Amino acid sequence: MATVNAPTAQRCAIWFGLPTPREQALLAAGGWHLRIAGGDARRQVGMRGDDVVVLVADLRGADAARLATLEALLLEHADLPSIALVDGGDDADDDAVHGRIRATCGRVLHAPIDPDTLGSALGDLVARPRRDIDSIGGRSPAMLGVRAMLHRYADVDLPVLITGESGTGKELAAHALHELSRRRERPFVAVNCGAIAPTLVQSELFGHERGAFTGATVRRMGLFESADGGTVFLDEIGDLPLEAQTNLLRVLQEGTLERVGSHRPVRVDVRVLAATHVDLDAAIARGRFREDLYYRLDVLRLRLPPLRERGDDVDLLARQFLDDFRSHHPVQARGFSAAARQCLRAHAWPGNVRELLNRVRRAAVVAEHALIEPGDLQLDAATARVVALDDHRDRTDRDALLAALHATGGNVSACAQRLRISRMTVYRLCRKHGIAPDTLR
Ligand SMILES: Nc1ncnc2c1ncn2[C@@H]1O[C@H](COP(=O)(O)OP(=O)(O)OP(=O)(O)O)[C@@H](O)[C@H]1O
Ligand SMILES: [Mg+2]
Repeated sequence: MATVNAPTAQRCAIWFGLPTPREQALLAAGGWHLRIAGGDARRQVGMRGDDVVVLVADLRGADAARLATLEALLLEHADLPSIALVDGGDDADDDAVHGRIRATCGRVLHAPIDPDTLGSALGDLVARPRRDIDSIGGRSPAMLGVRAMLHRYADVDLPVLITGESGTGKELAAHALHELSRRRERPFVAVNCGAIAPTLVQSELFGHERGAFTGATVRRMGLFESADGGTVFLDEIGDLPLEAQTNLLRVLQEGTLERVGSHRPVRVDVRVLAATHVDLDAAIARGRFREDLYYRLDVLRLRLPPLRERGDDVDLLARQFLDDFRSHHPVQARGFSAAARQCLRAHAWPGNVRELLNRVRRAAVVAEHALIEPGDLQLDAATARVVALDDHRDRTDRDALLAALHATGGNVSACAQRLRISRMTVYRLCRKHGIAPDTLR
């Protein structure tokens, strides 16, 4: 593999205030260049385009005048990740400026600050990828529809059921909903329901009291409580054990939960988003999923289309992924050859956007020339799109349904007559394809 040398980017922490000698030593040990700032942050660090910069707003012992200066500086550099250091213990701080600074900083650390916490908090801030709506690439009609739904659903405090094949961006969409909502300053907690041992699910989600079971030596808050005021994203909801489904239903119906080992209801304020790539109707039929929970979760539905339904988005995303990769890695590849672009368009993308991302990254690493070739992507004519009969049928169903709904102004009975199917089938197909008939009125 050929590489070009690029100057390595520096990690800089710009500290508005005065770090202790211990904090300074810690930052140096973690590879952070420290700048103690008073004026223009950018000039002070001699920032290059690819430098990684974190602002540290040291609010400890700051008086009103200093707080005002800090706020102005943070506002001026609002595009940079920032962290606030505050005096320990007391959470109540009624100074308005102080409160605003704390709200704009990505993290708040309480003094006395443990060296490890400081190091990892800074690292997390820069490592955390952007997950807002702008990180969702694509301009196809299908994706413009998804973006419109995200905006429409964001501030409605109802559950959203996100469906779509593997790798279509369900988790990304959940993040975007949170970032667009009023809850954005509060936690976003993602839980993969299939990845927690069934015996631990209850206590992970809802917490437990001391002595609730062997090994429960201390009382522990569950993920729902830790997300209070924010959003809980339940990924692979179809894998949630039945017992936990009952408790989740209670959170949705009553806004309360009970920790394992306690019967005292605890009030929580969370918005629940759930995702599945399995057909929940089938899970209900097999008795694996509670139907009442399904209807509670499926209030608003967001369907992420497979990549093969997104037309030119494949080119656009491939370009975007290559550019992103190039900005962090010194590689030869600059673009795609015509043959590679043709293969990208012809491939069926069973693994959807994740597959595209992985193929592009791999190709960027192995390509020995400026243009990526089909071989670098491990694609050739033989892997070109084979449209499975089911896919074809699904799309035909969806098109016919949409056409009939449009023609009848979203009237389900008229639509059913037109298609010579029952009203129930219209509803079932609408659910399957993520279509809300009343939005077509
Ligand atoms: N429209 C998009 N633009 C840019 N990146 C995307 C887009 N959609 C998905 N991705 C990226 O593709 C990868 C897969 O997305 P994500 O994890 O959200 O998919 P998923 O539907 O949750 O997959 P799974 O069903 O396997 O859990 C992630 O790295 C994500 O950032
Ligand atoms: Mg996922």
